[in-house]
Amino acid sequence: MKTYPEVRLRRLRLTAERRRLFDEPLPGPEKFIWPVFVKSGRNIKEPIDTLPGQFRYSIDTLLRDLEKPVRSGIGGILVFGLSDSHRKDRHGSEAWNARAPVQQAVKAIKKTYPQLMVFTDVCLCAYTGHGHCGPLRRDGQVDNDAACVSLARTAVSHAEAGADGVAPSAMMDGQVLTIRQALAQAGADDTLLMSYSTKFASSLYGPFREAEQSAPQKGDRQGYQASYRDAAQALRESELDEAEGADILMVKPALFYLDVMARLRPTTRLPIAAYNVSGEYSMLIAAADRGMGDLNAMVRESLFAIRRAGADLIISYWASRYDSIFAEGG
Ligand code: PBG
Ligand code: ZN
Repeated sequence: MKTYPEVRLRRLRLTAERRRLFDEPLPGPEKFIWPVFVKSGRNIKEPIDTLPGQFRYSIDTLLRDLEKPVRSGIGGILVFGLSDSHRKDRHGSEAWNARAPVQQAVKAIKKTYPQLMVFTDVCLCAYTGHGHCGPLRRDGQVDNDAACVSLARTAVSHAEAGADGVAPSAMMDGQVLTIRQALAQAGADDTLLMSYSTKFASSLYGPFREAEQSAPQKGDRQGYQASYRDAAQALRESELDEAEGADILMVKPALFYLDVMARLRPTTRLPIAAYNVSGEYSMLIAAADRGMGDLNAMVRESLFAIRRAGADLIISYWASRYDSIFAEGG
């Protein structure tokens, strides 16, 4: 192999024109899915302290704020519902209420923006009084199979409201199979199933739990979400979800788990989504606010890293400001 002085790699990157020729393109807006929070009421747009620039919306204000990201051409949204505390119960039954905020929002969004892909988060933690992702057994563990039945009812209610895809995030064994079968029985064969397949018990979900008011009252989620210290088992989670009928797999969080993404990529031909979670979003804002870096530059670099690790889709709060982040080109 020839080396210096004949080989000079700076020849390839000396000018903007040369870099443009060789660089991979930045991920386009169509690769992004914006997570949004909806609650009941009208004319509500509540800032979320720990998730600056993101809001809890009532349906009317959400429709208004969707206009800009839709115009910039984002690939879709992922809808999360909030539940009034007096509606929460042991089972999370508000999750499959056809008149609850998520189901109503999906209907309204598909009516106003029929071209926009709408995914819904399917979980029970925002609807149970105890804040866990399924009903609890006597010993305090989540009842796996009972949770699956409730998750399937919830997914069907979202499909019936017109969701293009459902995204179960509870990390119960068999949830993908149970949901796939329930969708088939409901005649919802075209509904996409995006599984939160490799989802870790992470300390980066804090801002989201504040947004959703969905933190567990007691204990944590380590009894169902994957351990970051057992990557092999976390990869088996995705393998099983593919076998159970998922259309799209996911790694979550994204930035602390790029190695997991890169290991999953060659093992499947399914599309893989990366969830760039709330803590990853807020920590860059916090750093930029303290003068530790240029926000848009850090965001572009981190999003490109997620792409480079092998993600086909990026679920990210940054999607709401795609244009301003990528305007400077990077
Ligand atoms: C609920 C759910 C969580 C997130 C997505 N769905 C929180 C959790 O599992 O505790 C996290 C998203 C984020 O932090 O942006 N099952
Ligand atoms: Zn949950």
